[in-house]
Amino acid sequence: MRLGTCYYPEHWTESWWADDARRMAEMGLTRVRIGEFAWSRIEPERGCFDWSWLDRAIETLAAAGLGIILGTPTATPPKWLVETMPDMLALDAAGQVRGFGSRRHYCFSHQGYRAEAARITTALAARYGQHPAIVGWQTDNEYGCHDTAISFSGAAAAGFRDWLAAKYRDVAALNTAWGNVFWSMDYPAFKSIDPPNLTVTEPNPAHVLDWRRYSSDSVVSFNRAQADIIRAYAPDRDIFHNFMGFFTQFDHHAVGRDLDVVGWDSYPLGFLEQFWFSEADKLRYARQGHPDIAAFHHDLYRGCAKNGRWCVLEQQPGPVNWARYNPAPLPGMVTLWTLEAMAHGAELVSYFRWRQAPFGQEQMHAGLLRPDSTNDVAGNEVRAAAVAMAQLGDIGAPPKSVALIFSYEADWMIDTAPQGQSFRYLELAFEMYSGLRKLGLDVDIVSPDAALDAYKMVVVPSLPLLDAAVAERLATLGCPVLLGPRSGSKTCDFAIPENLAPGPLQAHLPLQVVRVESLRPGLHHKGDDFVVERWLEHIESALAADISTDDGIGIVYRTNHLRYLGAWPDQALLRQLYTQMAQEGGIQTQILPYDVRLRRCGDHVFAFNYGTEEAKLGGALTDTPDNGYSVGSAVVPAAGVSVWPFSA
Ligand code: GAL
Repeated sequence: MRLGTCYYPEHWTESWWADDARRMAEMGLTRVRIGEFAWSRIEPERGCFDWSWLDRAIETLAAAGLGIILGTPTATPPKWLVETMPDMLALDAAGQVRGFGSRRHYCFSHQGYRAEAARITTALAARYGQHPAIVGWQTDNEYGCHDTAISFSGAAAAGFRDWLAAKYRDVAALNTAWGNVFWSMDYPAFKSIDPPNLTVTEPNPAHVLDWRRYSSDSVVSFNRAQADIIRAYAPDRDIFHNFMGFFTQFDHHAVGRDLDVVGWDSYPLGFLEQFWFSEADKLRYARQGHPDIAAFHHDLYRGCAKNGRWCVLEQQPGPVNWARYNPAPLPGMVTLWTLEAMAHGAELVSYFRWRQAPFGQEQMHAGLLRPDSTNDVAGNEVRAAAVAMAQLGDIGAPPKSVALIFSYEADWMIDTAPQGQSFRYLELAFEMYSGLRKLGLDVDIVSPDAALDAYKMVVVPSLPLLDAAVAERLATLGCPVLLGPRSGSKTCDFAIPENLAPGPLQAHLPLQVVRVESLRPGLHHKGDDFVVERWLEHIESALAADISTDDGIGIVYRTNHLRYLGAWPDQALLRQLYTQMAQEGGIQTQILPYDVRLRRCGDHVFAFNYGTEEAKLGGALTDTPDNGYSVGSAVVPAAGVSVWPFSA
């Protein structure tokens, strides 16, 4: 694994560049990402390119031995460009223009902007495609950041109509598929269909689902256009994009197919603060991040990479500026996060950013260096990570043990009609992942069409659209498989299947979900050590329930290795289920100290302590070393890491 940083030469006096580059190399960094927001300095006026500063920046960084990842600057179209075609700006759901003055001010569907993005990408790729120091390219920056994957502009409406016409060919077929007889919503022609915003009350969910699919496809094709241009000029260089945390507005599996290396941006403290975690967890992990946040994304994005190549393109180095509260990480966390990425098979961790900027929107966001150029805390921790990495050497590839199936479309479907405000697909997937990690299991998060034969256990948090082929594949795997609530509950047109949920799964597991209910806080059903809250399904089956609530409601049914779970599970229920399944699958589970997580990679086991107190390994943990530790010891300090060789 390599280390790198995000650098903005255009932010600094040119006379600093050489010293910055020297210090990067001294810190142990070998990669530097540049250029992704520099359009106004590369092309100050339409057609007038100023390459001179970028040429010199590239030469200076290369002279220090750094390999460069060059970004296309399309996340920040310059003002002159916006002025020539103001309708390139996105519109929000209320029809308001999302104007110039920050970034990501464009609509993915605007053909004029797409042409401009292709033009600047071509200019850059033609100039630097064969430059020996440019080892890779990043397309744009964080597609969808600031809620920008979906735009309700005129361009998007036109694109949506064409997309619908290509899909359904005949508007009568669309009316049938969507069920437009309901509320007299029949459309006379494709041209009469609008995006599903500004309706009096909720729009038809089938309409929304197609709109979500269209919006996602627009991101995929926008990225592919850039990737194709870069490949034409730089066929032997890697193409990256940096995905975000807890973000599902487009199908990342589909974008991943057009990349060589899937990157993501890891801000564990910001994510903990901004998402659904309890107040207790927000406090407990305020300076560490929840122990499963970084790992969840490492495993998710490794599964979005067509050949398993993935990296962290931005790593939080200190307090960020964008969450509700922005605490500093515990001393040691930057090293821990770095080694954790290594343990999940990353090929690069790049810190955001080199030096804290004294101006602009992110002036309160830490870097490796303070604005006065002194090393900040992270600047010193990077060295510690580099030393540990050198000690460990090449650790080999991640194992295949448990697969968790993640579907972006599942998220869109549940988000479109949640039937209860606390049913969030992403949270369910995260909780079901977290339960596996608490037992010391190694997880690959994969798409519904991924090959599953090598796994010993498969978990499907929820797959509302479960086609017969996927159901058949899961049922015949021969290892324990668990399908969660709402699986098989919809058709591809967002209707209830004729045979009710779980639809095609019934061919393999004879049960029918005859009623579902969402439970407001306070409504719950107790069971043996667990409590069902949020969601409960009423199931009819000739089978006896495998697990029931105390008041006799069956929530888990099984035949052989195949299980269906008709409730929102808490961690106690997951523990019970996973322990049985792991036994059946022949996988060893562990009893871990509460804040400790394990991860195997190649021939090493890593232990990460996300607690604020030291943790002792050993005891009930069966997976401890025979021949001593490569890093750390059996006592892992707060924010510490221990690593030992592993013999299977
Ligand atoms: C990311 C983004 C970076 C920077 C960073 C700050 O979302 O890609 O450009 O804004 O956040 O944390």
